[in-house]
Amino acid sequence: MAIDYLMLQGMRNLASLSFSPSPQINLIYGANGSGKTSLLESIHFLAYCKSFRTHKSKFLVQHGQDSLTAFCKLPGQQLGIERSLKGERRIKLNGQWLNNAAQLASLLPVQLLDPTMFKLLEGSPQFRREYLDWGVFHVEHDFISIWRQFKIAHKTRNALLKQGSKSSVAISETERQIWHESLAKLANQITVMRKTYLTELKPIFDDYMSRLNSSVEVSMAFYQGWGKDKDYLQLLNEGWFSDLKQGFTQQGPQRADLRLKVNGMPAVEVLSRGQQKMVVCALKLAQAKLYQQATKKPCIFLVDDLAAELDINHRKALCSLLEELECQVFVTAVEAAQIADCWSPLSNVKKFHVEHGNLIPE
Ligand SMILES: Nc1ncnc2c1ncn2[C@@H]1O[C@H](COP(=O)(O)OP(=O)(O)OP(=O)(O)O)[C@@H](O)[C@H]1O
Ligand SMILES: [Mg+2]
Repeated sequence: MAIDYLMLQGMRNLASLSFSPSPQINLIYGANGSGKTSLLESIHFLAYCKSFRTHKSKFLVQHGQDSLTAFCKLPGQQLGIERSLKGERRIKLNGQWLNNAAQLASLLPVQLLDPTMFKLLEGSPQFRREYLDWGVFHVEHDFISIWRQFKIAHKTRNALLKQGSKSSVAISETERQIWHESLAKLANQITVMRKTYLTELKPIFDDYMSRLNSSVEVSMAFYQGWGKDKDYLQLLNEGWFSDLKQGFTQQGPQRADLRLKVNGMPAVEVLSRGQQKMVVCALKLAQAKLYQQATKKPCIFLVDDLAAELDINHRKALCSLLEELECQVFVTAVEAAQIADCWSPLSNVKKFHVEHGNLIPE
């Protein structure tokens, strides 16, 4: 999947622009504040209807404008999203208005490598669960419906716990048992899917780590959200009174984590910034490769400030792995020279200079 054509209007500082990117490598360079990240943000916005820099899309709308429009052409598909300052959003896919963004979930499989990627190592488990579940969602067709059912059952149990902790009326054991059985079944299904995914991901990740010339060995351990050898149904039943005190379900797949360690210590506590970047790159590359194997479609990579933290050898190693995946890449740098020599002469490389919000093809 590659973007054939992109058109933007009213996005951050970017002038109204349209262009046809390379199906392979797109180098976007320009001075600080010129609009490079905004361009990547636009593609992310098309893929996920949201930015990676802010939760509030209104900040994407150009100062002085009422709305923004992003539009792209993909092979056989056309997608446009309009977002007004007031919060209205309209999505048009292949000429049809969509009521919600759910249908877009698999349309543009975008992988992001930018300064926020460090959250994957240093942030809360939520970031690693999101990473993991992105992958599981794209390779396991049942995952999303099981996850949604789990969320309902989990919410219901929490509501029962809140209700139980406030009122003197006890919740009947039969009622509790019904919810627990359904919750445990869904939790176990989610866990099996996550574990299976990680079993496939791990060797690919290790391979990418070694090919990124990394001398560090990172171990990957999955925490399912409760004790390894415990039966979840039993745990729900036995933990009822303790959960009642807390007012929520303390253990379960909603607490799962992917623990990355070096010599038994958390990777984030041991690795240098550049090494951390390589770990995250290897995680994202591995995910893209698995996605590609499962769907026969390549991802699109948005790489903001590729050169940051990486020396020339590691930059080249990363670039050649991106090329090898044969995916479309949008990569930014302040100076073109920082990343210009990192690509094979066989690749289709297009260069764009961003100057005060204008995109100038070279
Ligand atoms: N809603 C907006 N309307 C107009 N301009 C905006 C808006 N939001 C941000 N800007 C400005 O857009 C410009 C481009 O920002 P962007 O982050 O894309 O730059 P950049 O090229 O990635 O810079 P850097 O190299 O520093 O990362 C900045 O000057 C920023 O202040
Ligand atoms: Mg930037």
